[in-house]
Amino acid sequence: MTRAITALRMVVRALRGDDSARYFLAEKLTHAIYPAYVFSEYGREFLRDTSFKARYESLEGTSNYRSLDRKYVLDQLVQLACLVDGDTAECGVLRGTSSLFLCERIANSGKEHHVFDSFEGLSEPTAGDGSYWTKGDLAVDEAAVRANLAAFDFVRYHRGWIPERFEDVADRRFSFVHVDVDLEQPTLDSIAFFYPRLSSGGILLCDDYGFSTCPGAKRAMDEFMADKPESVVHLPTGQGFVIRASTVPSGGRAVAAHEQPLRSQP
Ligand SMILES: C[S@@+](CC[C@H](N)C(=O)[O-])C[C@H]1O[C@@H](n2cnc3c(N)ncnc32)[C@H](O)[C@@H]1O
Repeated sequence: MTRAITALRMVVRALRGDDSARYFLAEKLTHAIYPAYVFSEYGREFLRDTSFKARYESLEGTSNYRSLDRKYVLDQLVQLACLVDGDTAECGVLRGTSSLFLCERIANSGKEHHVFDSFEGLSEPTAGDGSYWTKGDLAVDEAAVRANLAAFDFVRYHRGWIPERFEDVADRRFSFVHVDVDLEQPTLDSIAFFYPRLSSGGILLCDDYGFSTCPGAKRAMDEFMADKPESVVHLPTGQGFVIRASTVPSGGRAVAAHEQPLRSQP
């Protein structure tokens, strides 16, 4: 009875325009339909960042906000990378939304932004990738991406199946790398190539780390990082990231990441 009265009060408040009451009702309704989902706190300010939302919508449209929080996290983390030497890169660009936020942050820094994509969608999933994805999913026209990022003359495009084109940047250092290819093998190839090239304090962010639809991405990152000093930070958005440590033990001597020799891809 008390719960019914509370619910009724909330309905009345919601009808009068009370935003927190609407949120309360949405939470209760969602719980009834999909109990596994839990709402986050009411009143998060990032949802009121209209400038950010408008830029997201400029490439993602207004019918899908499923990666809004992840783009926000990326946008925030890139600020840290601006203080670090080295270029930036994205493995898996799709329409270029993450690269757009990244490029806005690094504009005028002298950094180049390197984009790696087949522009033919996903490669062939393997058994460890589950059944969610199919080869060719998420294909996008390279010309459309170039148009979306046309304002940034420091973007370099490396079209091909990962890791074919990594050799193009084998002699460069990186401050921020976004790995977003959904599948195990290209995720592993990307991390194995870019981790040794991250400057001290550089960030490698994997978009797909915490999604049951991308089990191979987590396995790739966990297995690669198992013998490294840095831990993977798992965010509730589903992303996972590492910050390259300033020094790593090597043969008894602490060696800064930027002092370590680069190895070319086999
Ligand atoms: C999830 S989308 C990337 C989304 C993008 N990072 C964003 O934030 O908007 C995955 C992208 O990875 C690319 N891709 C997947 N597997 C690949 C592979 N093996 N080699 C090259 N590109 C690949 C696809 O073409 C697609 O553009």
